[in-house]
Amino acid sequence: MKALGFATPSILLLSLIATPPVWAQARLAATPPMGWNSWNLFGCSVTDAVVRTAADAMASNGMGKVGYKYVNIDDCWQGHRNEKGDIESNERFPDMKALADYVHGKGLKIGIYSSPGPKTCAGYEGSYQHEEQDAERYASWGFDYLKYDWCSARSVYKSTDMPAAYKKMGDALKATKRPIVFSLCQYGHNSVWEWGASVGGNLWRTTTDIQANYNSILALGFAEQDGLERYAGPGHWNDPDMLEVGNGKLSLDENRLHMTLWCLLAAPLLAGNDLSNMKPEILAILTNREVIAVDQDPLGVQGHRLVQEGPIDIWVKKLKDDSEAIGLFNKGESATPITVDLVAAGILGTATIRDLWVHQDLGTFSRIFTAMVPRRSAMLLKVQQSR
Ligand code: GLA
Repeated sequence: MKALGFATPSILLLSLIATPPVWAQARLAATPPMGWNSWNLFGCSVTDAVVRTAADAMASNGMGKVGYKYVNIDDCWQGHRNEKGDIESNERFPDMKALADYVHGKGLKIGIYSSPGPKTCAGYEGSYQHEEQDAERYASWGFDYLKYDWCSARSVYKSTDMPAAYKKMGDALKATKRPIVFSLCQYGHNSVWEWGASVGGNLWRTTTDIQANYNSILALGFAEQDGLERYAGPGHWNDPDMLEVGNGKLSLDENRLHMTLWCLLAAPLLAGNDLSNMKPEILAILTNREVIAVDQDPLGVQGHRLVQEGPIDIWVKKLKDDSEAIGLFNKGESATPITVDLVAAGILGTATIRDLWVHQDLGTFSRIFTAMVPRRSAMLLKVQQSR
C-alpha cells in the first residue's frame, strides 16, 4: 500500500466490508424502538392470543400511527428442542411463523426473547450452545427483534465473559441477514453502556426490573440514568426498562411523569399494559404526538439533569431543530411552583415556550420561566430561542 493520505477504492471497499456495520445498526434503531412487550402485565401467562390481541389493538387504536411498531413476546414461549436441536415453541404458541405473519399483516413487527444461559429467568430453554441455530430459527419464523436476558448465564459464564457471550448472539443475528433489533438485558452490570454497541446491541438495559409503582419509576428513572447520555445515539440506546404506563395503581400524574422522563431519556418506549383494555386517558398518555416527538427526535440525544433540589428535578434534551425539551418534575407530595433558569439551560435572550402535553403555546419568556406543577407530576416544555 502506498503511503498516501487516502485509500484506493479497492482498499476502501475491503475496509468497509471488514468494519462492524455500525451504519446498519443505526438504521435499524435510528430512534429508540417503540412497541409493546408482554412481560410487565402478562408475565408467563402470555399466549398466541394475547400477542395477536396486542397487535390488533396497536394497529387500530392509534398507537401504530404515532410510531409503536414492535409487538414483543417476552419469556415463557419456549418448548423443548427437537431431535435436530431446533427450539420449538410450547403449547401456548402453536405456530410461531403463523403468529409472525399475522403481526406483519397488521403492518407491525414482532419480537422474541431468549437468554445466553441454558435457561431463561423463568426457567425455560435458553440459547446456550445453540446461538447460531436459534438466531436462524428466529429469522426463519420472521422475527424482527430479540431481547437477550442474562438470567442463568451466570451459572456458565464469568461476569467478565458477558461481552463475548452477547457478541456471539449479535454475530449470529447478523449472519442471518435479517434486520433483527438486538436488545441486551443484563440489568446494567459491567458498565454495559461502554461495550453494548460494539457487540451489536441496539439497546441495553441499564437497570434492575421496573415495577408498576411510583417508587420504582423514581428509582430507575432519576437515580441511575444521568451521566449515561454520552453512550446513547442513533442505533444504540440506554434502556431504563419498559413502560408501566397504565399498570398497577399509578395515577394519571404519575403515568405522565413516567412518560415525560422516559421521553427525555430517549428511552425505548415499550408499553407493558393491556392494549385492548385501557382507559382513554392512558391511551392519550401513550400516544401524545408532541411528547413522543421528544423521545423520537432524529438528533438522538439523550437528555440530562440540570437541577435536583429536594422534590424538584429539571431535565433538558437537545432537539434537532435547535430547541430544547425541558422537563419540570415535582416528585413531592404537594403542588409546587418550579422555576427554570433558561440561561442555565443554554437559552440566551428571549424564547418561545410550548407546553407539549396540552399542545399550548405559553408565550415568550426571557431568563426564567415558572410554572405550578401538581404533586407527583411533570410538565414537558419545548423551548425555542428567538432568532
Ligand atoms: C428478567 C428481565 C425482565 C423479564 C424477565 C422474564 O427479570 O429483566 O424484563 O424479561 O426476566 O423472566
